[in-house]
Amino acid sequence: MARISLRQLLDHAAEHDYGVPAFNINNMEQGLAILQAAQACDAPVILQASRGARSYAGDIMLAKMMEALEAMFPAIPICIHQDHGNNVATCMTAIQHGFTSVMMDGSLREDARTPSDYAYNAAITAEVARLAHMVGASVEGELGCLGSLETGKGEAEDGHGFEGALDHAMLLTDPDEAERFVMETGVDALAIALGTSHGAYKFSRQPTGDILAMDVIERIHARLPNTHIVMHGSSSVPEEWQEVFNTHGGAMRETWGVPVDEIVRGIRMGVRKINIDTDLRLAAVAEFRRIATTRPEEFDPRKFLKPSMDAMASVCRARFEAFGTAGHAGAIKVIPLADMARRYASGSLDPHPPIRAAA
Ligand code: G3H
Ligand code: 13P
Ligand code: ZN
Repeated sequence: MARISLRQLLDHAAEHDYGVPAFNINNMEQGLAILQAAQACDAPVILQASRGARSYAGDIMLAKMMEALEAMFPAIPICIHQDHGNNVATCMTAIQHGFTSVMMDGSLREDARTPSDYAYNAAITAEVARLAHMVGASVEGELGCLGSLETGKGEAEDGHGFEGALDHAMLLTDPDEAERFVMETGVDALAIALGTSHGAYKFSRQPTGDILAMDVIERIHARLPNTHIVMHGSSSVPEEWQEVFNTHGGAMRETWGVPVDEIVRGIRMGVRKINIDTDLRLAAVAEFRRIATTRPEEFDPRKFLKPSMDAMASVCRARFEAFGTAGHAGAIKVIPLADMARRYASGSLDPHPPIRAAA
């Protein structure tokens, strides 16, 4: 069994200059696709479940599924992460169900709709970090709100995201504040806002620096060179899958995602965790559509689900290769959470010092 904490995995990624895609998971097919791809290229894995996933599949089903995946793929270190936790209870119950890492997203209030302020965010994130670290689980925080620099809007299609429009000050993480936030909360990883948003409709054109602010990563990394940076909303929304989807009766309007090359550039600047949900949704449903239209006589769900799994696995494999995750699973010796807890208690896993404090 190789259930790894986010902190240990991202420390390894930082040491060896790679990034780890964090794929959202709701069902068995996604789990098998991700792990089959990981096994094929020896990549460690982050599986993340949103609150939506937990209510869709149920905590017990998700927990048992994770156990099954671990048993089937014992050579692959698997981090199980709560995506966008909205309060302390969501994070604590995730840990109760075997998650090794939680995101406390205090950039929004508990309703996951209302932008919060710094004080609220820092206080609730620090509280989650204090509790999670006692049992060795890792914590990701978020500073700045995810949303489009083109429209000022958050993409609320997945039930998580602010309503209305925000100005750039809230849509771009401030490096000064980031430094303060990491030190005050003790987070292991920091999600930042740089113009990405959830869902398929991220950019109305091929993104350039004015709407995908990669320079924010550079500026935060210069201040916090040892902090693991997380990019949310990082699906690339591949044109080839948009085409399969639209050719077979789908109606996705013209859109651009985050180019894989930009993510690779981000990894060179300190990005270690890259959140991807939409790309697997799109590939899976595009295959559904293709089979439904080309084989209208088909009614065995497995004949839809198996090609969907293959489509998702091909996307996962491409990301593992591009982000440099491939080839690292075998080299990781998993540290049990109890040992991680002892390390937090002893202070050896305190927040990574910012560059000025280190000097
Ligand atoms: O948080 C963003 C992910 O895409 C999760 O979406 O809440 O629909 O599961 P979801
Ligand atoms: P995408 O919608 O770009 O896949 O982002 C997913 C995400 O950030 C989950 O937290
Ligand atoms: Zn996200």
